[in-house]
Amino acid sequence: MLTDSPDAAHPSADQSRAIDSATAEALARHRSDSTRLLQILIETQDRLSWLPPRAITQLAAGLGLSRARVEGVAGFYSFLHMRPVGRYRVLFADNIVEEMQGSRALMREFCRQLWVEPGKLSEDGLLSVDVTSCIGMGDQGPSLLVNGTTIPALTQERIGLIAELIRNRTPVGDWPPELFHVEDNVRRRDMLLDSGVAPGDALRRAVAQGRDGLMAALKDSNLRGRGGAGFATWRKWEFCRQAAAPETGARAIVCNADEGEPGTFKDRLLLTRYADLMFEGMTLAAFAIDAKQGFLYLRGEYRYLRDRLEATLARRRRDGLLGRSILGVEAFDFDVEIHLGAGAYVCGEETALIESLEGKRGTPRIRPPFPVTHGYLGRPTSVNNVETLALATLIAARGGETFAQCGTPQSTGTKLLSVSGDCARPGVYEFPFGVTIAEVLDACGASNTQAVQLGGAAGITLAQDEFSRRIAFEDAPTAGAFMVFDQTRDMFAVARNFVRFFAHESCGFCTPCRIGTALLRDCLDKLADGHGSPLDLAEIERLDRLLQATSHCGLGQAAANPVLDGLRKFRKAYEARMLHADFQPAFNLDAALARARQMTGRDDASAHLP
Ligand SMILES: Cc1cc2nc3c(=O)[nH]c(=O)nc-3n(C[C@H](O)[C@H](O)[C@H](O)COP(=O)(O)O)c2cc1C
Ligand code: SF4
Repeated sequence: MLTDSPDAAHPSADQSRAIDSATAEALARHRSDSTRLLQILIETQDRLSWLPPRAITQLAAGLGLSRARVEGVAGFYSFLHMRPVGRYRVLFADNIVEEMQGSRALMREFCRQLWVEPGKLSEDGLLSVDVTSCIGMGDQGPSLLVNGTTIPALTQERIGLIAELIRNRTPVGDWPPELFHVEDNVRRRDMLLDSGVAPGDALRRAVAQGRDGLMAALKDSNLRGRGGAGFATWRKWEFCRQAAAPETGARAIVCNADEGEPGTFKDRLLLTRYADLMFEGMTLAAFAIDAKQGFLYLRGEYRYLRDRLEATLARRRRDGLLGRSILGVEAFDFDVEIHLGAGAYVCGEETALIESLEGKRGTPRIRPPFPVTHGYLGRPTSVNNVETLALATLIAARGGETFAQCGTPQSTGTKLLSVSGDCARPGVYEFPFGVTIAEVLDACGASNTQAVQLGGAAGITLAQDEFSRRIAFEDAPTAGAFMVFDQTRDMFAVARNFVRFFAHESCGFCTPCRIGTALLRDCLDKLADGHGSPLDLAEIERLDRLLQATSHCGLGQAAANPVLDGLRKFRKAYEARMLHADFQPAFNLDAALARARQMTGRDDASAHLP
């Protein structure tokens, strides 16, 4: 690691040598393959603590890419640094539940103890402190990342201890291991978490029944994807199998372990304790669609799980469950590589994820074509969520009909929920689909509940009169997050946190989202500062419509959800912030905007309105 910050333009001879050796090793490890650019950048930064200009130049030359391309990729991911950062880089999770638990006060106290300002490098280059989006610890916050490793369950005492360790310049590897302990917090088990399916069971059955048998079981189960959209898994695999591939086995399986939605952490549990079910699901998918290559795209925030996952892969290879001729079946060859993300929520979107896997910026692609026909390197690719793949293993082992008997007709099986917020027992709950919001609230020990945010920032806000609704694709869907807010919480502050999240995570590719999320954030900040008026509420509604209708991907389309729901269901919380709550605009805003646009010939005509 470069312990002192090299002058960006003129590194010393020693620093240049360190940079050259770090880049050469990363390039060699990845055979100078440009599709691995993100992994190469991560590994180079691991050695140097940041990416000096000389490293970018060396990598560009080594990969045969332009310097601008390498710089463009490095600049996209928030965990990659193109300026010197502290020897200790501390990022406090900024999700709303952790904010409610006092994360901001803890960060201020931490900065006070170490004489550092958030967002700035300390003068001695020792420390930088900032915030980051949810790191998947909503059930045991407040939490932080130090040099990329998670520390949950922060308290004043733990903050004091961390400050002390940094003051003494103790290497993070020598910190007390209990600081890094992450609880599983499993609160309710059902058919998946209690399945008892042993490694290889499902694969053996699938091989015995053949591909058609496996696909029939999946079809009978009516399994729908757990990553959000709820697309039928058997159909996705069927499309992928039918799509023309350049050669035998050229299709790819991707497990989406990006889990970036604020308030979601159920995949963390599967990755920690049920990795065999997930890897077996990937191998079943490979068997079904004829794929040889698999990727686990692991969010950077979960890199503390990487070694354990690699060990599981190694064991599976030894046991003949991965690699060549799996279970002795000729030409059944498949293996999985782990790729790390680097702090970009949008990379959970499947086409952005594929771009990232190819070593590019995580910009969502224009669809169609869909990944099932043109995915990784243009090959047919199935992208599936961790939970979906684990469930596919359960179905292959136990049969589709048993699975379909659980849940509702359109939402079969169970759903893992990440429950956090104002409740006595936060954690992971496995419930059959069809469970009501009230039943989940009861199970987690929530009382006096004002609202539930279902599906994270991009999801829906449910008020008290909706607690009889059922968690199911046909009623109240969720990819996993279930955040509880009691009557003491300010629902305006909740929406403001989500809007800030979207403004931060917008990839900037399309104008409605890049500008719209920033304007939305500014409107809410203005209201929070007590400078808002009903005109701002009208402007918020207009921006929401614009975002939903014109954004290129799901991030921008969903960015309006929390405020739209908030305005509809908790309007008082917004009006209470206004300077002139009784003021009524004397004109129709949309008509005025259209007139202003006509007169000025400019799209940003709203800037000229009173
Ligand atoms: C902004 C955005 C973020 C997403 N993040 C995730 C994620 O973290 N994990 C996930 O499985 N799906 C995520 N998705 C959905 C994926 O695009 C994709 O639909 C999913 O991985 C498909 O898997 P499934 O068929 O198993 O549901 C996201 C979508 C969007 C628009
Ligand atoms: S909607 Fe937002 S996140 Fe999606 S492509 Fe456009 S700018 Fe990027």
